[in-house]
Amino acid sequence: MSALLRPESALLLGILLASASSRVHIPPHDAVARVARFIAHKCDWASMATISTHEPVVGQPFANVFSISDGPPDSSTGTPYMYLTRMEISVQDLEVNPQASLSMSLAQTDYCRQQGFDPQSPLCARIMLSGSVLQVNGSEADFAKKALFSRHPEMIDWPTDHNWFFGKFNITQVWVLDYFGGVVMVSPEEYFQASPQRKHH
Ligand SMILES: *[C@@H]1O[C@H](CO)[C@@H](O)[C@H](O)[C@H]1NC(C)=O
Ligand SMILES: *[C@@H]1O[C@H](CO)[C@@H](O)[C@H](O)[C@H]1NC(C)=O
Repeated sequence: MSALLRPESALLLGILLASASSRVHIPPHDAVARVARFIAHKCDWASMATISTHEPVVGQPFANVFSISDGPPDSSTGTPYMYLTRMEISVQDLEVNPQASLSMSLAQTDYCRQQGFDPQSPLCARIMLSGSVLQVNGSEADFAKKALFSRHPEMIDWPTDHNWFFGKFNITQVWVLDYFGGVVMVSPEEYFQASPQRKHH
């Protein structure tokens, strides 16, 4: 009988496989569009900067945190969807000027901690998205609901009198920092064509 078939070895193998699959497998750093898609799918939330309409910072950048989803765990679209209400301070900014910027970092996953990368290290990969926030309706809203509620189950119970609606971040430019040498720009076309998944051998 080979060593691998002994029960204690099988148990050890099971533990090793389980810990390997729970690790975050980032695409190669030079595949920047894939890294961007990977980050956008892994992160459950993002910082969003709007141009403030609120005193005393009217006209100044204003960063806030939003739950996002670009699709259920098994299906990534690259488009960050959001569940929004006009009672929210940043959404009030968006009603005046829908332009915004979203940032997401693998510091929000276990990856940077496990690798020993400081959140500001270029190796702790992150993306900055430029674009605007648009309301979505119809079948796209149905998809946004599935994308968000599957990853943020408590949204189902958020108060209905807040008049929630579904929005998407319409990307016009992607900026990726995942290695030394500075930020790399990725066009929306390259971004949406890239696969966020690790290629299996
Ligand atoms: C979605 O519906 C809202 C409210 O009826 C409307 O203001 C908005 O323009 C619609 N958006 C799209 C993309 O059709
Ligand atoms: C949405 O983004 C695309 C680029 O991906 C851009 O061409 C288009 O103008 C944007 N739409 C709005 C309403 O901002």
